[in-house]
Amino acid sequence: NANGAKAGKTRNILEKMDETGKNCVVFYGSQTGTAEDYASRLAKEGSSRFGLKTMCADLEDYEYENLDTFPEDKIAFFVLATYGEGEPTDNAVEFYEFITGEDVSFSEGASAEEKPLSKLKYVAFGLGNNTYEHYNSMVRKVDAALAKLGGTRIGAAGEGDDGAGTMEEDFLAWKEPMWKALQDTMNLEEREAVYEPVFQIAEKPETDPDSEEVYLGEPNKNHLEGKSKGPYNAHNPYIAPIAESRELFNEKDRNCLHMEVDVSGVNLPYTTGDHIAVWPTNAGKEVDRFINILGLEAKRHMVIIVKGLDATAKVPFPSPTTYDAVVRYHMEICAPISRQFLSTLAAFAPNDNMKAELTKAGNDKDYFSDAVASKNLNIAQYLEILSNGAPWDKIPFSAFIEGVHKIQPRYYSISSSSHVQKDKISITAVVESSSSPGMPHVVKGVTTNYLLALKEKQHGDPNPDPNGLNYAITGPRNKYDGIHVPVHVRHSNFKLPSDPSRPVIMVGPGTGVAPFRGFVQERAAMAAAGEKVGKTVLFFGCRNRTQDFLYEKEWEEFGKQLGDNFSLITAFSREGPQKVYVQHRIREHAAEINELLQQKAYFYVCGDAANMAREVNQVLVKILAEKKGWSEQKAEEEVRRMRAANLYQEDVWS
Ligand code: FAD
Ligand code: 2AM
Repeated sequence: NANGAKAGKTRNILEKMDETGKNCVVFYGSQTGTAEDYASRLAKEGSSRFGLKTMCADLEDYEYENLDTFPEDKIAFFVLATYGEGEPTDNAVEFYEFITGEDVSFSEGASAEEKPLSKLKYVAFGLGNNTYEHYNSMVRKVDAALAKLGGTRIGAAGEGDDGAGTMEEDFLAWKEPMWKALQDTMNLEEREAVYEPVFQIAEKPETDPDSEEVYLGEPNKNHLEGKSKGPYNAHNPYIAPIAESRELFNEKDRNCLHMEVDVSGVNLPYTTGDHIAVWPTNAGKEVDRFINILGLEAKRHMVIIVKGLDATAKVPFPSPTTYDAVVRYHMEICAPISRQFLSTLAAFAPNDNMKAELTKAGNDKDYFSDAVASKNLNIAQYLEILSNGAPWDKIPFSAFIEGVHKIQPRYYSISSSSHVQKDKISITAVVESSSSPGMPHVVKGVTTNYLLALKEKQHGDPNPDPNGLNYAITGPRNKYDGIHVPVHVRHSNFKLPSDPSRPVIMVGPGTGVAPFRGFVQERAAMAAAGEKVGKTVLFFGCRNRTQDFLYEKEWEEFGKQLGDNFSLITAFSREGPQKVYVQHRIREHAAEINELLQQKAYFYVCGDAANMAREVNQVLVKILAEKKGWSEQKAEEEVRRMRAANLYQEDVWS
């Protein structure tokens, strides 16, 4: 409870709403910030369009025993992301366990059968990804639990699908009928939405930006004062020295990094299979573009103090700070544009033509898709094109703090074993770069290109910035100095069997092999130490053996330690006339796999969630059906049972 435990803060939501005069709370369960962002958009719209007195609330900041006394004339929104295998986000775990618990009990003592939440009116929206098995299970389960306890949902429970790439449109389509239903229920009058800033920005030209109290990218006070200490978590990164970095591909145009960060002497424990979060810095090129198009160049290093205009508005970064630091370290300025945000900006367009253009792009889904989304533009690039580079200096900076996401750490499956490398966490990251014909810009992944720049700096590369991205790798007050990177560790359930003699089958094409390097490293070390280690089978796929065969030499070394118990089965997709993928190889090895499963092997899949993981799942179903003479349905049930028993584990992303 990093936030809730802060001194003097109430954990009683009703008290908080009373104190601040609110009649609408928008709770969010968010992992990567998207749910939090939607929550603040709903709060903002509720206030500007319908006159609701809204606040946003992090689910982990409050307790829920008194939900049974939630007044009838107020409304609670739940914006809930589903994480991983149908799990709640970290900040929603306690709420989720409470509300769906077997013997949930409330302050007034009514039993669950007595419908204790009969006064509660709520709205629900979920964020999920249909490529995962438990699509939007959070919102579904919470909605069912609230309904069972007597709560009344207003409007439909919305579901956004990141897998189909329609999250934003799903959200926009859901919210209009929801607002209509809420208007009817709460007797709300719609008014013309006028932009009201959420944050006040006080400029302090007299303050020296280099003075000690000014945040230049430091995430919190301890960091500012040079006294950073653990626990390290999503609010507090460790600025880790980079112990090693090297290129894994042998290709001209694509990069894949192996990086090791040194965590010796700090309280940053990890176990094999966990994730490491990397806190990125935006590319200087994009920071400059953003600052310029907003007309902030002359005062980019001016000290500013940012405050919420309302007691419940949370400023998403510490201040005093500078415009430059906010944009560089705290805003997701390179992300795709939100259509709704364009509608907000329309009011501040430099002339009527541009206003009409923004209004059209904001209101017309198809036009937006054609003119904006399909061009892969970020917000500054789009504004730049619209105005031909002339500054948009009428937009209040607050609108950007509200409308552009807070920058998010990116997660990487740790590619080392905590037994073998307790103090050095390995990362295996492919550098993202996407372009397509007709695109005005090549989109460079924020974090992976930052890591690439750090690697080049560490190696003293004479040409450290071939892409002209101009990363400020020296970081705030040189604390990052180009050979440090801010990180924290996130625990995962993707784990080796506790009994090493159990066989394991691992499927990890591309960077999906990352955690399996850790797994195999660990089992090899155990074998070398004389422990009995079971069969260790790894399916790896890449384009071809000469260019992107990750850790080729290391597998040989591990193989020496594991002996016959190790097999590496490769699928090179671009060597022959036909694509060969890991699932094809799995099929060829059906008999062996079936046999290992009979010996209670653990089956692991890591990497691409969109296609690969699903196809591997299907192949396994086919193998089971064939070998056991089962129907497909029965085989599917068996795979589900394996999942439930942790015998089938996935670590997948899209
Ligand atoms: P981002 O800037 O986040 O961009 C992501 C993608 O979106 C890029 O392809 C980019 O081209 C595109 N994009 C960005 N902006 C726009 C725009 N304006 N318009 C259109 N397209 C745009 N990755 C690994 O390499 N190795 C791992 O071991 C690994 N493990 C992971 C484990 C988990 C649990 C998760 C969730 C993810 C994992 N990932 C891993 C993925 C990783 O977290 C990052 O998503 C990835 O490295 C890209 O980050 P980035 O900041 O470089 O790119
Ligand atoms: P491709 O790019 O040649 O299609 C790592 O990215 C490897 O995964 C590459 O060899 C890639 O092949 C392959 N791959 C692409 N789509 C896949 C899928 N649906 N299932 C399994 N592997 C896939």
